Amino acid sequence: MSSPDWHVIEALDPPPLQTLFAEDPDRVARFGIDVAGLHFDWSKTHLTAEAVAAFESLAKAQDLSGKREALFRGEAVNVTEGRAAEHSAERGEGAEDSVTRAGLLHARMRALIDAIEMEALGPIAHILHIGIGGSALGPDLLIDALGRDEDRYEVAVVSNVDGCALEEAFARFDPTATLLVIASKTFTTTETLLNATSALDWLRDGGNEDPYGRVIALTAAPDKAVEWGVDETRVLPFAESVGGRYSLWSSIGFPAALALGWAAFEEMLEGAGEMDRHFRLAAAHENAPVLAAFADLFYTQVKGCETRATFAYDERLRLLPSYLQQLEMESNGKSVRSDGRPVGRATAPITWGGVGTDAQHAVFQLLHQGTHLIPVEFVAVAEPGDALDDDHHRQLLLNCFAQGAALMAGRANDADPARAYPGNRPSATILIETLDARALGALIAFYEQRTFVNAVLLGINPFDQFGVELGKEMAKAAGQGGLDFDASTTDLIMRAFG
Ligand code: F6P
Repeated sequence: MSSPDWHVIEALDPPPLQTLFAEDPDRVARFGIDVAGLHFDWSKTHLTAEAVAAFESLAKAQDLSGKREALFRGEAVNVTEGRAAEHSAERGEGAEDSVTRAGLLHARMRALIDAIEMEALGPIAHILHIGIGGSALGPDLLIDALGRDEDRYEVAVVSNVDGCALEEAFARFDPTATLLVIASKTFTTTETLLNATSALDWLRDGGNEDPYGRVIALTAAPDKAVEWGVDETRVLPFAESVGGRYSLWSSIGFPAALALGWAAFEEMLEGAGEMDRHFRLAAAHENAPVLAAFADLFYTQVKGCETRATFAYDERLRLLPSYLQQLEMESNGKSVRSDGRPVGRATAPITWGGVGTDAQHAVFQLLHQGTHLIPVEFVAVAEPGDALDDDHHRQLLLNCFAQGAALMAGRANDADPARAYPGNRPSATILIETLDARALGALIAFYEQRTFVNAVLLGINPFDQFGVELGKEMAKAAGQGGLDFDASTTDLIMRAFG
């Protein structure tokens, strides 16, 4: 049953985008927000003053401000696991004791980085980072986005248990100059532990007498890392209350802090902190994560959109869509509310996307003329990342902006329907002034807080992920031969292993 607030939202029927622009000369300013060097343009979505008011009333009914404060105060907002979600404390916004603890753990990270730079672990040229999901996607994104001009360390992030992934890194790296970083919040993830064991063997076989001497662990379960063999002086813990997919701000960000420099890591935390403060203080209609979540819910609940696509118009952000897939789908891909009752409506849409302009020549056909309505998000950077002729960056940005304009405007063609474009297709654009650590921190924090707002308005807990457990358990049981599978699965196992 829909609450009265949802009824109002479900009845929203805004006119086409072009009419909205024609009717309101201030629309760009009304739906544009500037925070931390990022410009958010939500004007090409179907949000209207009426829609914003309807969502504001839902936000009130769902106690968004109370839940937001509970999040920042370090209350147990992750109700199904009975714990807080304190990623913001890592960037200075949270309960005082949690902020202090995060600061102390960051100081340990920094001390170890200084020691590595002084060659306390021998000369290091390569960083082999092993982790999966939230223990890999964040560091990978940061290093790929910001590390292109850094040449002190070569970094490989290996997540897949497929040995091909590890072999690729072994082929590139010298074992006598490699630092092995094992990242796992729980230190129980089977893929990570198997990859770590193989990497340790490779270090040993490659001529390191004491391979453990080159291992660092990043974890919320320090005892398990020590049990595995990592020296406790090289275990960098983080708080249990920092969720895996929200953990790049903690010691999980270690390889990024090492490869990009401590100053960059700190700037990233500061940028995220600035976004947190904006999220905490700005009124709903001027609040970037809140307004974006309103639009998200408009498209899923009113228009029945099942996916949302993000296109990074900047090669440095090519890993952003896969980072967002875990953040959004693992957080909000749920069917029950925090209290266990069915949500009774669509939750997270499928997050997908790619890189512009490549994607224009692959998937944009469907965006412009297909039968699915897909809200699109463009992420672009005003300042070029390359040193080539200006033409490259100019063309890149003009393509980005033209796509949003074309999706909205469309073009009629009664004589030739195959060449007609329906238009009225929504997009939002985030334009980043300069892609530095501060801006990237703010961008990622924006996505985190927007995910939180979506969850609060739907009444779900974004901080657990029980959905991934069943498959893990069955794979384990299959390995131990202890499970009767269905006929198809048994047949596949027999074919693969005989
Ligand atoms: O399988 C899901 C998950 O638990 C993610 O939430 C997490 O980021 C990933 O596995 C890795 O977990 P860990 O850091 O404990 O190895």
